[in-house]
This record gives sequence, C-alpha cells and structure tokens, in this order.
Amino acid sequence: MSRGTIGARNVRRDALDKVLGRLRYAADLKVPGCLHLAVVRSTEAHARVLEIRAGSAQAVPGVVRVFTARDVPGENCYGIIRLTADQPMLAPGRVRCVGDAVALVAAETPETAALGARAVEVVYEPLPALWTPEEALAADAAPLHEKGNLCFEQRIERGDVDAAFGRAAAVVERTYRTTWIEHAYLEPEAAVAWMDEGVLTVTCSTQNPHYDRDDLCRLLGISAERVRVTQAPTGGGFGGKLDLSAQPYVALATWLTGRASRLVYTREESLLASGKRHPMVMKYRSAADPEGRLLAVEADLVADTGAYASYGLAVAMRAAVHAAGPYRVPSARVRSRAVYTNHPFSGAMRGFGTPQVAFAHEGQMDLLAEALGVDPLEVRFRNALRPGDATITGHVLGASVGLSECLAKVDAVRDRWRRTCRSDREHLRGIGVGAMYYGIGNTGVSNPSTAQVELGEDGRFTLFTGAADIGQGSDQVLLAICAETLGIDPDGLRLVRGDTGRTTNAGATSASRQTYISGGAVLEAAARLRERVLERAEELLEVPRDDLELRDGGVHSRSQPSRGAGLGQVAAAFAAAGEPAREAGVFDPDTSALDHRTGQGRPYGTYAFAAQVARVAVDRATAQVRVERLAAAHDVGRAIHPPGVLGQIRGGAAMGLGMALMEEFSPGKDVNLDTYLIPTALDVPRLTPLIVESREATGPYGAKGVGEPALIPTAPAILGALAQACGKRITQLPANLERVREALQATGREA
Ligand code: MOS
Repeated sequence: MSRGTIGARNVRRDALDKVLGRLRYAADLKVPGCLHLAVVRSTEAHARVLEIRAGSAQAVPGVVRVFTARDVPGENCYGIIRLTADQPMLAPGRVRCVGDAVALVAAETPETAALGARAVEVVYEPLPALWTPEEALAADAAPLHEKGNLCFEQRIERGDVDAAFGRAAAVVERTYRTTWIEHAYLEPEAAVAWMDEGVLTVTCSTQNPHYDRDDLCRLLGISAERVRVTQAPTGGGFGGKLDLSAQPYVALATWLTGRASRLVYTREESLLASGKRHPMVMKYRSAADPEGRLLAVEADLVADTGAYASYGLAVAMRAAVHAAGPYRVPSARVRSRAVYTNHPFSGAMRGFGTPQVAFAHEGQMDLLAEALGVDPLEVRFRNALRPGDATITGHVLGASVGLSECLAKVDAVRDRWRRTCRSDREHLRGIGVGAMYYGIGNTGVSNPSTAQVELGEDGRFTLFTGAADIGQGSDQVLLAICAETLGIDPDGLRLVRGDTGRTTNAGATSASRQTYISGGAVLEAAARLRERVLERAEELLEVPRDDLELRDGGVHSRSQPSRGAGLGQVAAAFAAAGEPAREAGVFDPDTSALDHRTGQGRPYGTYAFAAQVARVAVDRATAQVRVERLAAAHDVGRAIHPPGVLGQIRGGAAMGLGMALMEEFSPGKDVNLDTYLIPTALDVPRLTPLIVESREATGPYGAKGVGEPALIPTAPAILGALAQACGKRITQLPANLERVREALQATGREA
C-alpha cells in the first residue's frame, strides 16, 4: 500500500478550478443556437385549469413554441420513489400548489422566453385548498391525490410502552414544531440538452444522473438507449437536487423540436418551485427511571409533504426510525405520517426528517435531566447506544458505535467553556448539548452502488463511478479509496464520473451514502483489478503471485527488490493477451425491510454518531442570540479525506445554526434571499470540529459517512443552550427574535 492516501490532507482535485472560477457549471454551457425556456407556473394553490391560451405568447417575436401537458409523449408523472411518484411535469388540468408548472415556452432568447411566459393566459377555477395536515386528514377532506391525503405512514412498536410509563420516575411531555426550510444552494437549478446522433443528451445540476435518465425516459416514453444524462459540476444539492427540476423541460423541448435547449432557474424560481424541508409537528412523551435511564419513548410525528410525495415516504420512515435518538430505549411506540396539503412540496433535505426529530428527542433528554436533577450530558452518557445494543427497530449494533467517545470529547470542551460562561447585565449565557445517530444509506431497501476500474494501455488507471459529486467531495474520497487499493498516487488516477453513457448506477448522492456504499463498490473493483494485475505480472516476471505487491505505481517482488514491472509493461501484457484490464465492483449494504406494523428490521448497514455542544449569549435588551462557540464530535468510522470531513462538519453546523435560529420559509411570501434569511459568515461561531474514528468493518477502510450527521445535532445543542440562558425551553423552530423575546419575558430575564 502506498502511504498517505487514506487520511491524507490532499487538496481537492477540483479546488483550484472552483476558486479561480474556471469550472463550468451547467449554466455556463452555452450551446450555440439553443432554445431558451421559461416555465409558466401556477398562481393558484389548488385549481382546475380550464384553459391555457397560448395565442398571444406565440405572437411574441422570437417565441418558437408553447408546450402544455398534451405535448408530454410519455407518462406525465415523475417522482424519485416509484411507489409514490405523483408529480406531473406540466399540469394536466389541475394544479395543487403555487408554482406548479402549467406550460413551457421555448424562444430564441431568455428575454423572449420570459415575455412569452408572461403572455400565456391560464384560466383557473379555484378549488378549496387544504392548508394543514389536520385539515387534510379530516374524514370529509377532498382528496388531493387518488389514494387520499395520507401519503405514507410508518409505525414502530417495541416492548410494553404503557407498563414502562406506569413505573417511570419521570415522564416528560412536549410538542415540538419545525417549519419549511429552503436548501439555498449557491447554484440554482440548471440544465442544457441537445441531440447527439439521435441520443437526447442532458447535462444538468443533479444528485443522481441515473435516476434522472430513467424518469426522463418515462416522461418521454422512450428507452434508456435514447437518453444520456451527465452531471455537470454541481454547486450544492442538500437533497433539493434529487427531484427533477429543469431536466424534463429541456428534454421535452429538445426531443420535440430537435433543437438544443437551455433552462436556468432564477433564484426566485428556485425558491418557488423546489422542494423544502418538511415542517413537522412532533408530540413526544418520554419516561425514565430515577437514574435517568430511558424506559420508553412515545412519538407522534406529522409531516406536511405539500402537494406531492417527492421523498415524503423516506422522510416519514427515517423520522420514525430515528425518533428516540441514539439511545437504548427498551419500549417505543412511534407513528410517523407524511400528509398531502396544497403547500409547495416538501422533499429531501440534509437529514431526511432526522434533524426534526433530533430537535424533539434532545429536548426530551434535557427535560428528563432537569426533572431528575442529572447533568444533561450525563443523562446522554447513561443512555448512549453501545456495541451490541438494539435500536428501536430491533437492529443489534455491531462494533462501530462511537457515541460515547463523541460525548466524552464534547464533555471535555464543555468543561473548559464552563469556566468562562457567565451571564452579566447585558447578556445571558448558556451551554447546551445535542447528540444523534444516523443510518447510512436508504432506509430498509436494497441501495447498491457499482463502479469499474480500468488499466489503460498507457499504464494509468481510470475510475468509473456514477456517483455525483455535488460539492461534498465524493470524488476525492473515491479516488483515495481506489488509489490506496492500487498502490498509486491519487493524482495519477483518471476519473470518469456521473455520466449515464459511460458510468453505471451508483445510486443517489443522498443519505450520506457515497463514501460507505460507492466507496465499497470502488474498493471491490480496485481490489479485483489489483489481483488481475498481480496475476498478469506473475507470468510476466516469473515471480510467484504471493511474492508480488502493487505499490508506488508498479509491481514489485517483496523478496527480490530488483525485480519488478511498471504498469505500462503490465498493460502491454494485458493487450498482448487480448484481455481487457477492467474490473467491476458492487456494494449493497446489508439491510432488511421494516415490518409494516411494528417497524422492526435492519434498516441500514451502519450508523454514524455525533455529539455537539454550543455556547450562546442572548442580548437581554434585544433578544438577539449569538452562538459564541460550537464544538462538533463526529464518529465517521474513518476519515478517508480529513479536510473533506472537517468541511462537512463546518458546513453542516452552519446550516444547523440557520435551522435553529433563523430559517423559515413562508410559502407564497418569500421570493428571494433578501427575505429568506440564512446564516452569513458573521453568524458562524468559532467552531471546533472533532473527528472520532470507530472503524466500521463493512465500510471501505472503516469509513461510514458525515454529510447529513454534521447538521443534525446543531439545532438541539443551540436550543439547549438557549433554554439554559433564557430559563425557558423554546419548542418551535426557528428560535427567532420574537420567540426568544417571549421566552425572556416569560421568565422575567429581559433587560
Ligand atoms: Mo439528502 S436529504 O440525502 O440529499
């Protein structure tokens, strides 16, 4: 093995091009003579579309064509989870939320396309809208979809919950609420399409080119050979680029006209038409014994999935699985539902429902600690999952459970901060902790990744992976795994990535799964090719296979250091034998489906663990909150690329701070980032990221994942700190000025 590949602090391969502005994102691809597109979007939350008058739009000079639902040649219905796919690309006679696509205008310039879109007249007959899950679930509510308004329900039943509550020393009960959150990626949705020798070619900002390809085939009614999707460098996704956005529109226009086309969302369109984080109402009841050991957790979770399912099923399911947090809970009763309303659709966003339930289960832990007079970190230690423990789905954990170590690390940090954590006349101060666990990969389903590695005739290796790097750094991780296995410098490794024409399916960049799952596939492909190379070298060098190793870019004899062969020689030997020097790998985590009634099963191959601690200062006069310090300890299994892990922790914590204190999307109100507030550099505190490596036996070189876990404990830690500072717990996110002020007034701590 070459030294310093796994765990090396290499500069990312794409870093220089990114900071110099040289990287070409989808919006930078100018296809000469292409059509520019504009989508006509519904102004109504719920209505029948009686008529679409395109006459005056078609009269705008430069407008080429106006498309409606009637032009969609295939099945006008998409959705990343096939079981619940329900979203039309162009509304066929009915709109279910403001922003639904009604018509598509293709024109010679972006300006004429926009003019044309404004000239399309849509005649609506408004229908009564359903604004809350409660309204939507009422017996007499009109169904928004054929199957009714309950999009999905997951239950978990374990142990005797009622008996546990009966013998508890402390029972705490609260309802927690969260709201819509916008992903606010730097790069808005963008796609270009053109015909390339009869193949519809789409380049786009996406988290999953293979899924996009399959849905485009269904929408257009064509086979997979006719469509190629390539992932352009992608400026953030956070779950919001799992759903199709601009892709179906460029695909339709190009397929039907034969001309190239381009669609780049404005920020306003991005906010209007993309999915949001599910708002949730979470009713919790938790019971503990006198020492603070959890006896039972009962949770009723209701998520507003809005007009379409998107990832609602996965969010409701994952929220249920993670509802009790990273603790030993002998008895649990959870009901988790995703419900349709006429709000914009909610979908995947960094954590899939886990950030919401973490806010609730960590609030409950603090309340139990308070009720029993136990330190909040101590109560978490006493309940922390350890190797061999069972989760509330009955999954008995393996060895890679680093929660206690994460808690110990933040405990040490907290000790130091405590010495200087004092309230004064102007500021109230508090310290809070949050913990989480997170299943890596999709819940209770097979979710394989595949990869190939090839030795070229020039003696250089190429890695082929379908895994979309959306900025999180999977390229660097997969290259490191491949290079380590092949004993080469990762800089010498070529990468072909995210292209349905040249790579096979790696599954979505989602669920923090690419390091663990695609990393596993890459490891297997590289290990197989390494064996083939060594076998080939055995013949070439007449040195026994067992005496050969692949390192430093060549094959070497262990016993006779003078004997060896360069990779070019080995490649030539493959060519002479007429054998392709290419191997494939696949990895699918060991999962089982959850039982429908009890939720018992093995939903993931492994789990990440984390604990964070936050120190806040609250201005007693203005109620302004400043997060002064944040420390985040994350068990990632093994940090394949430590700078990437640290970057994920920093970015996740910043996003978590936004969720805690300011982010609140109001459907129909926010039009741009001037009113939808996200953290800026000035809001981000001094942050101490701490890496814990509890190696996962089934992970590549022991790795698990970190993308979503980074965000999950932040809001719980900040809200715990705020509760200490204010003397009252805020149970609705975000804890904005008004809510903090209310809390200060309630306890008389305002200045
Ligand atoms: Mo994410 S919510 O797994 O893209």
